[in-house]
Amino acid sequence: MKVGIYPGSFDPVTCGHLDIIERAAKQVDFLIVAVLYNYQKGNGLFTVDERKEMLSAVTSHLDNVEIDSFSGLLVDYAKAKNTNLIIRGLRSGVDLEAEMQLAQMNKKLMLDIETIFLLTAPEHRFVSSSSVRELSLFQRLPEGIVPTYVEEQLKNKWNKR
Ligand code: PNS
Repeated sequence: MKVGIYPGSFDPVTCGHLDIIERAAKQVDFLIVAVLYNYQKGNGLFTVDERKEMLSAVTSHLDNVEIDSFSGLLVDYAKAKNTNLIIRGLRSGVDLEAEMQLAQMNKKLMLDIETIFLLTAPEHRFVSSSSVRELSLFQRLPEGIVPTYVEEQLKNKWNKR
């Protein structure tokens, strides 16, 4: 069985992420979307549990996708999941530089790890979770950037603050 891991921060999941998840799920038998507990980035806007809940909600139509979280190194997580396949999305040349470093460092850490890249759909090239967080704070998030469910969760989050 071909298992792939799509790791990320997903704070929150965007339509760009969802497009990658849907396309990646067609390329593997089973896809694990893994949210990083990132101690270096602080706590973020949403907790890891909230991010996982949103990911579960927006991927409920995909029966070969599981939502999980991990801490520590991605290669160790991949090993624990008995796979060597990492999937990442690429929006631009800027992403490519950073992703190349990550993929090559992961390969140094674990020789048989493979990272494959899916090009972000053109309509999502400019979408990032950080711009989503900022625009939603000012209630200026355009439609079609995040799934409707995530839009509601963003509104709830800012209303509570
Ligand atoms: O959505 P992001 O923030 O671009 O995802 C980055 C992620 C989670 C893929 C990356 O930070 C990661 O894999 N972190 C785990 C720690 C690790 O394995 N680092 C690799 C060696 S530098």
